[in-house]
Amino acid sequence: MASRIHPSILAADFANLERELNRIAMADMAHVDVMDAHFVPNLTIGLPVVRRLAQVSPLPLDVHLMIDDPDRWAPKYVEAGAASVTFHAEAAADAAQLARHIRQLGAQAAIAVRPATPVEPILDLLAVVDMVLIMTVEPGFGGQSFMAETLPKIAQVRAEITARGCDTAIQVDGGISRKTIKLAADAGANVFVAGSAVFGVADVAAEIAALRSLADVHSC
Ligand code: DX5
Ligand code: ZN
Repeated sequence: MASRIHPSILAADFANLERELNRIAMADMAHVDVMDAHFVPNLTIGLPVVRRLAQVSPLPLDVHLMIDDPDRWAPKYVEAGAASVTFHAEAAADAAQLARHIRQLGAQAAIAVRPATPVEPILDLLAVVDMVLIMTVEPGFGGQSFMAETLPKIAQVRAEITARGCDTAIQVDGGISRKTIKLAADAGANVFVAGSAVFGVADVAAEIAALRSLADVHSC
């Protein structure tokens, strides 16, 4: 299973986002964190900016919605040009219906859980999502420390995917670096979001390559 690296532009220079997207052109997708100051205590960007990023990005956009009422807003991010839209299980009124709607509009659908949210209730959604995001920090801010207590949930979802014979991806987000990526890959993750680890170094391409090879060695 080839690992995929999605740099989070939350750690990029917000005054130069087109240039920053071009710096990560060798990654797999660009991870875009949308926060509404309600679901999480931080505010980032919304539809008008995502629409423009989709026009200039060399990579498809992986939009992570940390917002209330994703049932209303997520479809609009597909229309804005997102290739993948992730909504939180804790915020969705009808997660299965929302995932189907996102797919019908032509994007990949993904469901996310906070570190303290159990995964059992979302296992039945594996049939309707392309990816499960296990948050490895409390959502809201970049630069936090990886929470190893989330590893059993990654393993649990991986076991279920294997048992069902489906090819749903498992993404991890938060505190992913050269020090932690192997832990997540060994537990079964195959899509890795990294913000500060990628944008915090001068040689972004080398960092992405290093993260990819560390994850590949330990995934199967
Ligand atoms: C946190 C965001 C993450 C964040 C990760 O709520 O969802 O995508 O950018 O940042 P790092 O990699 O610095 O932990
Ligand atoms: Zn994110």
